[in-house]
Amino acid sequence: MSTATITFTGVRKSYGGKLVVNGLSFRVQPGECFGLLGPNGAGKSTTARMVLGMAQPDAGAITVLGEPVPLRARLARARIGVVPQFDNLEPGFTVRENLQVFGRYFGMSASEIEAVIPSLLEFSHLENKAHARVTELSGGMKRRLTIARALINDPQLLVMDEPSTGLDPHARHLIWERLRSLLARGKTILLTTHFMEEAERLCDRLCVIDEGRSIAQGAPHALIEEQIGSHVLEIYGGNSHELRVLLGPYAQRTEVSGESLFCYTADPEQVRVQLQGRVGLRILQRPANLEDVFLRLTGREMKD
Ligand SMILES: Nc1ncnc2c1ncn2[C@@H]1O[C@H](COP(=O)(O)OP(=O)(O)O)[C@@H](O)[C@H]1O
Ligand SMILES: [Mg+2]
Repeated sequence: MSTATITFTGVRKSYGGKLVVNGLSFRVQPGECFGLLGPNGAGKSTTARMVLGMAQPDAGAITVLGEPVPLRARLARARIGVVPQFDNLEPGFTVRENLQVFGRYFGMSASEIEAVIPSLLEFSHLENKAHARVTELSGGMKRRLTIARALINDPQLLVMDEPSTGLDPHARHLIWERLRSLLARGKTILLTTHFMEEAERLCDRLCVIDEGRSIAQGAPHALIEEQIGSHVLEIYGGNSHELRVLLGPYAQRTEVSGESLFCYTADPEQVRVQLQGRVGLRILQRPANLEDVFLRLTGREMKD
């Protein structure tokens, strides 16, 4: 039997004749944060729902925590905490009541639930909101409550579908910090996101998905290094095509986009030397990132 926490092998899923997940294979190892990164409609939520046994694959094999899914999804689910893409908290209930309801749902006794509530409130920084109704909470507080709720039965694996989407930067950083503390406690996380920055910061490894297909897998920095190189120079204000010829020998790759030239290189200083003495150029030099990887692999912008 596999020791991986999640295995997907050649999984396919269609809705109404449209292939939404197209031969997806990946493995999530214990204790890692594994990301499914892709634009809206890529098939991330469908994949997450198949992990949970909430959507049936048409083909392929899935195991979760050693159980075949969907066949024995119920057994796996008892050890998984779920953060769905859209919060489904009880709006008329207080923070504390939401945790109580969920604990009962997992078959916990009242005293077991009371024993864990203080640490969950502390974890989610909601100690002062225990008696506030969900309708009184900010978006970030609701998201933190949803994460706390997912932890009530001390699951080994957390499946989080876009945990920080729709939050302002401050709230998002707080969620990232909470997720890191879960990883430090040895939890395994499957995370979906369309934020490249989130994937780059949090994920040990990720699978970049586009139109239901895996287009790249690996550690964020390894993907960047192998697809792009270390540095990007964005050069504005010159004749892009002429500059492209000039810089070609010093770049791993060059790309003209409108009026600007993108130069992907391991040696930005060499590129700059070539440009010395040219007036009117504006040069932005930055480290390569996952967005560059995505653009390279798909040739188009990632939509929100
Ligand atoms: N229950 C469903 N019925 C029909 N189509 C669906 C259903 N769920 C998802 N889809 C379609 O599958 C595609 C992928 O959706 P989804 O998995 O939600 O993508 P993502 O989470 O990456 O945005 C979309 O085109 C979506 O409209
Ligand atoms: Mg989704």
